[in-house]
Amino acid sequence: MKSKNLLLLLVFTLSIAILVPSAVVSAADDDKLVVYHWWTAGGEKEAIDAVFDLYNTVYPDIEIAENPVSGGGGGIMRSKIKTMIMAGNAPDTFQITYGSGMLESWVSVLQPIDDIWDELPVPEKIKEMGTIDGHQYGIPLNIMRNNCLWYNKDLVEELGIEIPLTSWDELYAACKKAKEAGYIPYAVGAGSGQEFWLASQIFQSFVLSAPHGGPAYLEKLYNGQANPSEDKAIREALGAIKHMIGEGYINSDYAALTWDKAADLLVSDKAVFYQMGDWAKGHLTAVGWKSGVDFNYQPSPGTEGVFSLHLDCFVFPQGAPHPTSAKKWLHLLRTAEAETVFCPIKGATPPRLDAFTDMYDVISQDILKDFRDPETTIVESAFAGPPEAWLDVFGRMFSSFFENPDVDQGVKNFANAYKSLNW
Ligand code: GAL
Repeated sequence: MKSKNLLLLLVFTLSIAILVPSAVVSAADDDKLVVYHWWTAGGEKEAIDAVFDLYNTVYPDIEIAENPVSGGGGGIMRSKIKTMIMAGNAPDTFQITYGSGMLESWVSVLQPIDDIWDELPVPEKIKEMGTIDGHQYGIPLNIMRNNCLWYNKDLVEELGIEIPLTSWDELYAACKKAKEAGYIPYAVGAGSGQEFWLASQIFQSFVLSAPHGGPAYLEKLYNGQANPSEDKAIREALGAIKHMIGEGYINSDYAALTWDKAADLLVSDKAVFYQMGDWAKGHLTAVGWKSGVDFNYQPSPGTEGVFSLHLDCFVFPQGAPHPTSAKKWLHLLRTAEAETVFCPIKGATPPRLDAFTDMYDVISQDILKDFRDPETTIVESAFAGPPEAWLDVFGRMFSSFFENPDVDQGVKNFANAYKSLNW
């Protein structure tokens, strides 16, 4: 670690030590922290390690029993945790995504943390999406924007593609150029149990930009109030995906790649575009690419002015074996210091309105500006708004649609999957 960073860390640590209330507890309760998370890819791994370092600097006597469960997006970790809790073997804390439907799906096994949340200085929207029946259950650590289209700058220049792409037609034209020049136009990775990216990234970005779609429709869809067999936006978004597949704009090995391997197709100059939330930036910079120099981003075509949002948070499960260590962890996560060691490496932006912002790169500065702009329409993403089951159910539905992109059948399958969620 650079000495300047170390110094900064120490300064943060001191202020945190003052912020965290000291509790009189038995040694046994206070000597360990059992924590689960799914941050094992480039960027996200280094980011959570930095928070562990911070915790250990403030609490050198607490041993962190870290359990990283590989599988981006948490598909594997979330089901593992459920089994553990049901078997009476809860951890002290674990990561989930933060938003109304996701938290609602978990509250029955969580303890409220209103006292720790307290007056967390975050925008009202963040408070609102994390409030379930008047209580808070998760400490949000980072803001994630989902509707990002990443691109390889050299290739875009070489192909003479004008950025930003603002419509489906412009996206298709750019993809056509890329394909004719022998590149993968639009990288996708949905392998190893990560089918939900097809729903949460590809479908979501197309429904947000569909003529009859947009943020208000997406909100309705994620709240269980849509009628997918009749709603034009579903048919339009499926039609756009069919076009992307049919024209050969998507890599044929998408079902064998994880999200980070798909991002690597940009780095190896094989692919031009990549639709993914801004954790992709954490990965691209972790493998040595420079933000704004080697790669850049734009809002997914047709979603300018929209911010598809979720956050990541840590929660306090019922039956946590070391509750005092867990509370110290959550107290630490709510500080601007924790956000500062985590978010810049993660590719994320900080939820606190009083967070330090100077250390963010040009892309994150831009994303944060958009997030705080009162003109921006903020809408909960697939990791936040709908019930947790959305990710699995629609991961499966889209995986079969990608294999056989028949729009009529797709609309039927979509409507059936939607009904199966028991809103
Ligand atoms: C998302 C999560 C991000 C990132 C990504 C890939 O669900 O919010 O923080 O980790 O999965 O693992």
